[in-house]
Amino acid sequence: MKFGVLVSGTGTNLQALLDARARGELAPAEIAVVISNVRDAPALARATTAGVPAEVVEHRGFERAEFERRLGDALARHGVEAVVLAGFMRVLTAAFVARHPLRIINTHPSLLPAFPGLDAAAQALAHGVKLTGATIHFVDASLDGGPIIAQAAVPVMDDDDARTLHARIQREEHRLLPIIVRRLAAGQLSCQGRLVRGCAE
Ligand code: GAR
Repeated sequence: MKFGVLVSGTGTNLQALLDARARGELAPAEIAVVISNVRDAPALARATTAGVPAEVVEHRGFERAEFERRLGDALARHGVEAVVLAGFMRVLTAAFVARHPLRIINTHPSLLPAFPGLDAAAQALAHGVKLTGATIHFVDASLDGGPIIAQAAVPVMDDDDARTLHARIQREEHRLLPIIVRRLAAGQLSCQGRLVRGCAE
């Protein structure tokens, strides 16, 4: 299954996928292209270093429908069958999501449905929760919404700031994301995000 990875920033989750690929642990998933909506995103260099095609599809200056049309065209040019949002900081419209049903997954740094949106680690600190974590989920048209596939919890320490907490959460994202991408490619995920074998849904 050919994946397109959409990024906006640093790309440590992309790097976890590239490292798993280099170890031979991602197959039958292939990374066909990495696309950033931000021209100078460091994630792009990670793709290039790994020998994966990297493209920029900017959102700035375009209507949402036009941005998504160009994004869809770029994914189609690379034969993409499934999409990973790996720190992609744009909400996709229902029309875009409908074109890839149960074929778009997202990683988010909280135990959803808690703390969707921006700065999830800072939101966790502001609420004083003692546990937070990482969620990998299928994407629907809501903000960080859709069937949950996998979660991992991490403790919130008394001396955490948003940076140290986010770093602890990201270690779990980096561990989970390649596992889930491989399972999706192998047809081992049900529509509800549960692990199955030979699922016909
Ligand atoms: C990740 O922690 C990801 O979960 C988060 O952005 C970070 C990107 O880091 N995404 C969201 O908050 C989406 N709502 P990375 O560029 O180093 O992978």
